[in-house]
Amino acid sequence: MISNSRETATELNAISIKVTPPGPNAKKVVEEDSKYLVKSTKSIPVVARRAKGVFVEDVDDNVFLDFASGISVTNMGHVHDFITAKVEEQLHKLWHFAGTDYYYREQVDAAKVLTEVTPGKFPKKVFFTNSGTESNEAAIKIAKASTKKQQFIAFIGGFHGRSQGSLSFTASRAIHHKGFFPSMPGVEHVPFPNPYRNPFGIDGYEHPDELISRTIDFLERYVLQTYTPAENVAALIAEPVQGEGGYIVPPMNFYRQLRKVLDERNILLIMDEVQTGFGRTGKFFASEHFGVEPEIMSLAKSIASGIPMGATVVRSDLDFPEEGLHSNTFGGNLLASVSCVATIESMKKEKAVENSANMGKVLNGRLRELQDKYECIGDVRGLGLMQAIDFVKDRKTREPATKLRDKVEYSAFQNGLLLLSTGLSAIRIIPPLIINEEQIDMGIEALEKAVRSSIS
Ligand SMILES: Cc1ncc(COP(=O)(O)O)c(C=O)c1O
Repeated sequence: MISNSRETATELNAISIKVTPPGPNAKKVVEEDSKYLVKSTKSIPVVARRAKGVFVEDVDDNVFLDFASGISVTNMGHVHDFITAKVEEQLHKLWHFAGTDYYYREQVDAAKVLTEVTPGKFPKKVFFTNSGTESNEAAIKIAKASTKKQQFIAFIGGFHGRSQGSLSFTASRAIHHKGFFPSMPGVEHVPFPNPYRNPFGIDGYEHPDELISRTIDFLERYVLQTYTPAENVAALIAEPVQGEGGYIVPPMNFYRQLRKVLDERNILLIMDEVQTGFGRTGKFFASEHFGVEPEIMSLAKSIASGIPMGATVVRSDLDFPEEGLHSNTFGGNLLASVSCVATIESMKKEKAVENSANMGKVLNGRLRELQDKYECIGDVRGLGLMQAIDFVKDRKTREPATKLRDKVEYSAFQNGLLLLSTGLSAIRIIPPLIINEEQIDMGIEALEKAVRSSIS
């Protein structure tokens, strides 16, 4: 029997490895999981039992420090007291009331607060969804319906979800498309200005302006002027910082310049802030770093601290022209709506965005110290608490060291630190935004141990 007893529960405040993970109880769950669950994307066999703040306890009583935040979902930490209390209160009143067909105050409150925190002073409206991919599906339909245009531009390296519409934008790993051709037609991909590795062979850290102009030139000259007329293009979709593609931060002026190209041609900008949103990058939304206000923004992940929820926030005039063009069943569910409002309230009260900016600097500094010590760390990049380290076989060629990266991720897990890989050779470091310096140091110590043991 897997122990699930709370009597033995201790405070979760430090890494504690009692049995090398995965322990016997974890192994049993993993085995049954593979029997009853369809394959998805699992890589690290951590089997969680409970969690609080930045720590997670597994079913063998090991305690891990969480530098993954459930892929940037539990930004306010696990089982946050205020958010939990608000959801619990709602749990006794009303759970579900088909918010796309009927009405309730909680959904309106959540929509209102989202229109206030998202960039842009213009009036906005919200469509609630249940996931990131569904937010992008709604974005696609709103862009098509409002512009009466059918085609889209997306970036190589971008990730926007796995349902057939969003999948047509996703271009971060070939496996996502393997056997699923064709997805939605009409999406053209262009290179992203990745400063570290790009098809132009430009060092984008040294020459950001050159990288921007080559990228924009490619879009204008080789796509819009040759085979995808702007008159056909409803929108361009981008992640301000590419997430699944390897935590790629483009040069800071990129989106301002891109915006000009789009505005001149009446092409909408959809910012997919599913992973970058809600303080992750040290601003409420990553778009703010780049000085752009998208007409459409896709949200999910941390929007309701782990109660499934997504949202598509749009400039009001883009709203569907009539009822019936789009809808769903669970969007804006009461528990999710209450959790969304409570999440934003607690973020403001606890200055989570400011902490993300401040602790992000500390984390980046510590990662750069590791880079100075270990040749295999070729790049450290990120904004706020959205940081990554990239493993290379050779610093000059920047050839990705995928196997080493995987080894470090697994070894960190065995040392009590939860990490998630991204892209070909990077590990993302995305602790909850409430993390403090002492906890960062605890994590860096475990990470260094993992790097050292993986290269020896
Ligand atoms: C930027 C971005 N968009 C969309 C998605 C898809 O979200 P979901 O898995 O909730 O469908 C993700 C998931 O990682 C993402 O990072």
